Amino acid sequence: MYTGFKHLHSTLAYVLLAGLLISIVYVLFAYLQNKAYNRKMALLGLICAHLQLVVGLAIYFVSPLGIKGASGEAMKISTARLYFLEHPLMMLIAIVLITVGYSKAKKLTVAKKQNGTVLAFYLIALILILSRIPWHVWPAGLAG
Ligand code: HEM
Ligand code: HEM
Repeated sequence: MYTGFKHLHSTLAYVLLAGLLISIVYVLFAYLQNKAYNRKMALLGLICAHLQLVVGLAIYFVSPLGIKGASGEAMKISTARLYFLEHPLMMLIAIVLITVGYSKAKKLTVAKKQNGTVLAFYLIALILILSRIPWHVWPAGLAG
């Protein structure tokens, strides 16, 4: 089960990065060209994020690197700290930002503001995500 979740989480990372980028580029152009807000294009990034959240939470409890790897000693080891603390926490914050951005935009009525809101929240989330991906194993880690 662990291996299955790990591969799924690793693959969904591509799906999320692609989905988020498509959402961001779309709302960026809509914002710049004063076009209508397209909720479905923002929904793409949101769904990818929620899917990865569920799988991430599952992997956190089955992986030896997740909750089982948490200890005071592990706190001093940067790779261990990344997996049991920094990565899950930062990804959680990013996914909350995506959800808040999407929800705020849903309540607004002016297209320019809707596009701007999604753009800002999704962009910050993307930066946070990129900051805590375990780059030393991914994408190369997909095989292992
Ligand atoms: C731990 C699991 C999850 C949590 C805590 C969560 C939480 C949330 C929250 C707080 C919202 C905001 C609703 C709003 O204000 O509009 C939301 C919306 C949404 N979630 Fe999730 N979610 C989870 C899993 C999933 C999964 C697995 C999917 C499907 C792939 C999903 C799909 C959606 C969709 C489509 C919406 C947007 C609905 C709309 O258009 O307003 N979520 N979720
Ligand atoms: C923005 C969403 C997320 C992205 C893009 C992401 C991405 C990744 C990537 C690329 C890996 C490396 C996989 C590999 O070894 O090939 C990984 C590992 C891991 N992630 Fe996430 N993740 C996300 C959210 C989460 C969340 C919310 C949690 C937990 C609450 C989590 C927990 C973990 C754990 C424990 C590992 C280590 C798995 C292992 O090798 O045993 N992730 N993540």
